[in-house]
Amino acid sequence: MPVFPPAFSGQLHELFRWRRDVRHFRRDPVPESVLEGLLATACLAPSVGLSEPWRFVRVDDPDRRAAVRADFSQCNADALSSRAGSEARRYASLKLAGLDDAPHHIAVLSHPDPEQGRGLGRATMPQTTTWSTVMAIHTFWLAATAAGVGVGWVSIINPGHIRTILDVDPALELVAYLCVGYPAGQAPTPELERRGWERRAPERREWVRR
Ligand SMILES: Cc1cc2nc3c(=O)[nH]c(=O)nc-3n(C[C@H](O)[C@H](O)[C@H](O)COP(=O)(O)O)c2cc1C
Repeated sequence: MPVFPPAFSGQLHELFRWRRDVRHFRRDPVPESVLEGLLATACLAPSVGLSEPWRFVRVDDPDRRAAVRADFSQCNADALSSRAGSEARRYASLKLAGLDDAPHHIAVLSHPDPEQGRGLGRATMPQTTTWSTVMAIHTFWLAATAAGVGVGWVSIINPGHIRTILDVDPALELVAYLCVGYPAGQAPTPELERRGWERRAPERREWVRR
């Protein structure tokens, strides 16, 4: 195993600090070799029973992308209509997708009961397959940040509709719809914090002890 020098830990912390949920993208594509590398790194993530339940789906077809965009618009309008007054105005001012500019769309699905892993670790906690897929997504996100590539996680969508649009096995669970591309800007704080929607809570950085 390589020895990671102390300076590396500092740089790694900077990577965690600068990883952003990106909503503003340049339109130029990320080279295929870079995307392949990100997928390979994502697959180094841990998974329950070594089940590797994740399925990364590249969404390239313009019609499917347009259908996903329309689904987001509908879900976002529904979310907006459930809010009132100044809260609704603030919600409407947020950029919550990034689907139009991002050159790459990647849906991440999860197999709820894969043969791989032979059921190990899932009997009492079946959700562990989903969590394994989330770990792969986070690994992808961090590797992308290190490569200067931005990732935005879109969850204001109807998972059943998206599965139909993508024509994937209905047994697969949609975990994430990712917008991927070079970011149009960089910031060391979440956009939602900069826009006054929410802030990081210092109390979350304290242990709960029992
Ligand atoms: C599971 C998950 C779903 C998310 N869905 C959305 C979304 O639909 N729209 C959005 O604008 N941001 C979404 N985000 C991004 C969060 O708003 C963002 O991670 C958070 O504000 C912290 O910002 P940062 O990632 O830049 O640190 C999602 C993040 C996660 C982890």
